[in-house]
Amino acid sequence: MKSIKHKTIWITGASSGIGRALAIAFSKENAQLILTSRNEKKLNEVAELCKPAKCFVLPADLSETIELSQLVKKAMDCTGQIDLLMNNAGRSQRSLAKETDIRIDRQLFELNFFSAIELTKLVMPHMIKRKEGHIAVISSISGKFGFPLRTAYAATKHALQGFFESLRTELKADNIKVSIISPGRIKTNISLHALTKDGTSHGEMDPGQENAISAEKCARKIVSGIKKNKKEMLIGGKEILLVYIHRFLPFLYHRIVNKISAK
Ligand SMILES: NC(=O)c1ccc[n+]([C@@H]2O[C@H](COP(=O)([O-])OP(=O)(O)OC[C@H]3O[C@@H](n4cnc5c(N)ncnc54)[C@H](OP(=O)(O)O)[C@@H]3O)[C@@H](O)[C@H]2O)c1
Repeated sequence: MKSIKHKTIWITGASSGIGRALAIAFSKENAQLILTSRNEKKLNEVAELCKPAKCFVLPADLSETIELSQLVKKAMDCTGQIDLLMNNAGRSQRSLAKETDIRIDRQLFELNFFSAIELTKLVMPHMIKRKEGHIAVISSISGKFGFPLRTAYAATKHALQGFFESLRTELKADNIKVSIISPGRIKTNISLHALTKDGTSHGEMDPGQENAISAEKCARKIVSGIKKNKKEMLIGGKEILLVYIHRFLPFLYHRIVNKISAK
């Protein structure tokens, strides 16, 4: 997608963090936006910040899959077409696998994986008909390697990597681009919103998060990558090195992660 101007971009998880920063960044490029998450009040605040760009606020709990086809219909009725779908909504995890209720693992998959692929499957036919479109997903460096206290979260992100990498090969003939974005640590409220073993929110800002790069910087890099039709984006600080260490120096990766305490 070389030019963003006048394109319609649907951002999920637009009320906070990376999604909010993406909405503001895309609005500066004169895009028309659809903003989705559960919190309508916060979405309206983001829409206000995006002015004069046109924003349609479509609140939804993306874990409620029954709603999704209705949501896509509403989005199409509002804008006529979706040029870029940014699958961004997600929650992290802060709990040991041995203590985590299986319902929490499923909850993470429902939001982080199934809602993204269902929305993609509902939007995709419209793009295929036009032989044009771009689908992006916010994965994580946890989609590249395992990390303590993130078993299900890392699994959802590995699953996204597999799905969207495969999808890219299938959609090439239809001229639809697929970008997989893997942030490292970005300064957002993700650790506060992370699910614990019993489904309550972690409620704490992790020190690593506090000192991370800003959501605004992350969003600027994503916008630039989307314009270049980048297939993969790794965004963050020095933690990104772990992706390469895991791939090329696995013994070192094992040494590093074994030192990280799984409290
Ligand atoms: N921050 C990082 O360090 C980091 C690193 C790697 C990957 N990521 C990924 O980046 C994405 C955005 O995270 P963030 O850091 O911006 O965290 P965040 O500030 O907690 O934002 C998460 C967004 O997801 C939305 N959301 C949560 N549950 C939802 C549901 N059931 N239905 C609809 N929307 C829902 C939230 O909105 P509502 O509460 O209004 O629903 C919010 O807008 C996630 O996929 C995350 O895994 C983040």
